[in-house]
Amino acid sequence: MTTIAETRDSRFVSEQEIPEEMRLRKIETQSSYLVNGEIRQWHGEYYDIFSSVLLRDGESLAAKRLGAVPFMTRKESLDALEAAVEAYDRGMGRWPSAPVAERIEAVDEFIRRMAGQKEDVVRLLMWETAKTYNESENEFERTLRYMEDTVDHMRRIDEDNRQFAFDGGFWGQVSYRPSGVVLCMGPSNYPLYETYSLLIPALLTGNTVILKFPRVGVLLHGPIVPAMADCFPPGVVNTIYGDGEAVVGPVMESGNVDILAFMGPSQYVDRLILKHPAPHRLHMVLGLEAKNPAIVLEDADLDLAVSECVLGALAYNGQRCAALKLLFVHESIAGVFLERLQEQVSGIAIGMPWEEHIRITPLADPQRLVYLRGLVEDAVGYGARVVNPGGGEISGTIFYPAVLHRVDERMRVYREEQFGPIIPVAQFRDIAEPVRFMKESRFGQQASIFGKDARQICNVATGILNQVSRININAKCQRGPDLFPFSGKKDSGQGMFSIHDALESFALKTVLAAKDNRENSDIKGFLEKTAM
Ligand code: G3H
Repeated sequence: MTTIAETRDSRFVSEQEIPEEMRLRKIETQSSYLVNGEIRQWHGEYYDIFSSVLLRDGESLAAKRLGAVPFMTRKESLDALEAAVEAYDRGMGRWPSAPVAERIEAVDEFIRRMAGQKEDVVRLLMWETAKTYNESENEFERTLRYMEDTVDHMRRIDEDNRQFAFDGGFWGQVSYRPSGVVLCMGPSNYPLYETYSLLIPALLTGNTVILKFPRVGVLLHGPIVPAMADCFPPGVVNTIYGDGEAVVGPVMESGNVDILAFMGPSQYVDRLILKHPAPHRLHMVLGLEAKNPAIVLEDADLDLAVSECVLGALAYNGQRCAALKLLFVHESIAGVFLERLQEQVSGIAIGMPWEEHIRITPLADPQRLVYLRGLVEDAVGYGARVVNPGGGEISGTIFYPAVLHRVDERMRVYREEQFGPIIPVAQFRDIAEPVRFMKESRFGQQASIFGKDARQICNVATGILNQVSRININAKCQRGPDLFPFSGKKDSGQGMFSIHDALESFALKTVLAAKDNRENSDIKGFLEKTAM
């Protein structure tokens, strides 16, 4: 495998060649943090944040330094915890006791304030994650929409909850009550969308929150934090920065976290869960790894299947938990499928995130370059072949998408989540082969099936319904639309995400019940009119 000489790749440019409106205006030093409603100045050590977008300086390339964030210690993270615990006050605090309408008003104002920060947040998101400007802008808009729709849904739930259920001579009124203190940790790949799609339902249901921002995708929250301080009562939202286990470990060990809301690797979250002294009490909302397969049947519409598979595998460089990570193609169409796949992948525009029409950009985490190369080499060692010219080559922080053909179970890429631009293709003769893969896989998020025969598609789908949480027919795997439940079976997650389901994940349904008799009718009448 060859490596394109870093200094000769003209995709990497100097700072002066970047369009003015895409440049960072200044080095973003996050010199404060939010605890107990106060924006406190940080006087300790910092750690630097670099972009994986390399900039040319003469013959050499260097990672752009974007800014720095506090390298907090156990002390500050425990201060944040104390503030969240006090604000919750065992469910008696101002926020958990407030009527839903009051919390909605605060969240509405927060959304309005956040919308005003679009320009700065989107630019930081692009630089921190190397996601294209357009995708960064989409992520921002999607996040706002998600938050607004969650508020609307909470409003409807609140109205519905005034209704009574009647059974067995009882009436009951159900409401969503908070669970307690939430430790909220969004991921690096969608640090805005995934973080706020956890935070907002947690807040609307009355919990108090400690937000630990991800290592990649941390600075972009800076412009939003002042709105958190202004919109929510003291201690309801607290922010911590620093080395994950050093700051989050003590918080978990305290036993005061009631919900762990986390998106990222299971290996990491397992260590956190084990630190909790009373894990039976810990609720979890987890989005973890996946190895979503596509099954391309012999009668599939190849144009559609190929373009969906390319998009599914390579959108945001394949750094999506919902990406397609292994294609099973029926052997009768494998030749033509590969030819078209190879053609499409070769035509993909590779470049810098601010350029128009670019699909592949530098990897957000350059440490994965070596890992991805290792996966390709391992597969090639067992007889797989990279079918697209240049596939698997590395240039600076760009990994050129690789279509790997004849992948089989001896290879690591057959099982491991690549989380990068590798498209492994395995051929099958009998549908039992991909079905067995899914049955034996540790993961169970989603799958795609491509084909035309309704009976065959439904048979295959029915056969794998217990393996994954969503099956996409003639479409790639994806989280959206956000009204659909998003979750994972087996090692892929726990709890439900989506505008509707996330509210339930963060709340405990609580019932006021009484015998349905004349003596209780005044109480029922009062409850009908009262906001709880
Ligand atoms: O990792 C998945 C992200 O949430 C992106 O969402 O799958 O709907 O594109 P999507």
